[in-house]
Amino acid sequence: MSRSLIIASIANSKGGCGKSTMTMFLAAALAKEKSKKVLIVDTDEQRTITDIWEGEKASGFNPLVTVEDLPPRKVLNYLQKYGSDYDIVFIDIPRVTAKNGDEVAAMLLSYCNTVFVPVIGTQVDLLSTIDFLKLLEQVKTDRIELELPFSYSTFINRMNRRSENDMVKGYLKSQNVTAMENNLQDLKIFTIPSLSSSILDTKDGQRRFKPFFTEACKQLKNK
Ligand SMILES: Nc1ncnc2c1ncn2[C@@H]1O[C@H](COP(=O)(O)OP(=O)(O)OP(=O)(O)O)[C@@H](O)[C@H]1O
Ligand SMILES: [Mg+2]
Repeated sequence: MSRSLIIASIANSKGGCGKSTMTMFLAAALAKEKSKKVLIVDTDEQRTITDIWEGEKASGFNPLVTVEDLPPRKVLNYLQKYGSDYDIVFIDIPRVTAKNGDEVAAMLLSYCNTVFVPVIGTQVDLLSTIDFLKLLEQVKTDRIELELPFSYSTFINRMNRRSENDMVKGYLKSQNVTAMENNLQDLKIFTIPSLSSSILDTKDGQRRFKPFFTEACKQLKNK
């Protein structure tokens, strides 16, 4: 696998925080606005991204990105063989459950050089994210030992409770965890992800998604 390949993930052990949704918006925007060749590897049995991709193709839309549906054990070999066909690969990692524990997530994260962690800005979500951040620290240590790049940052998704969001941001800052500036409110425009168009084509998308997009691009470049 080439060292310059960007392998990224929008990941958290917490379910339903917007991992798959924001992966699709970010991947499609990178393809459309930055002319990047983007692959999404969907390792989640729920097939959220694969189903949307196949649905759009079946309806005659032309996807901006490629999606490959793979079980976690096949990802490394696949990336070794085909990774160099792309500029950026996103891995959609399943939520951590009692069944799979965090081993699957840890393995997939260890292939990544950049991770974005969506956090719904509430106290309850913060508690489960803290454990995930510990896992990321372990992955970081392991990669640094091998002189492989790794960075991660958090972002608040569905920010609609100002004071609670600020409390979460304050906590993350106190732990020296980067919290990206963004504008991802809980909005209808974020409920219909597409792999065939960029959210930045819309006025609302420009206003609400652009700050996250700009920050994410910076971090991907810095990998
Ligand atoms: N900023 C947002 N505003 C409104 N709805 C959102 C936003 N982000 C995500 N959603 C909605 O939240 C739901 C969960 O999102 P998504 O499936 O992306 O989460 P996930 O973290 O991938 O979940 P899972 O753990 O099941 O894989 C979806 O219905 C999605 O449309
Ligand atoms: Mg998902």
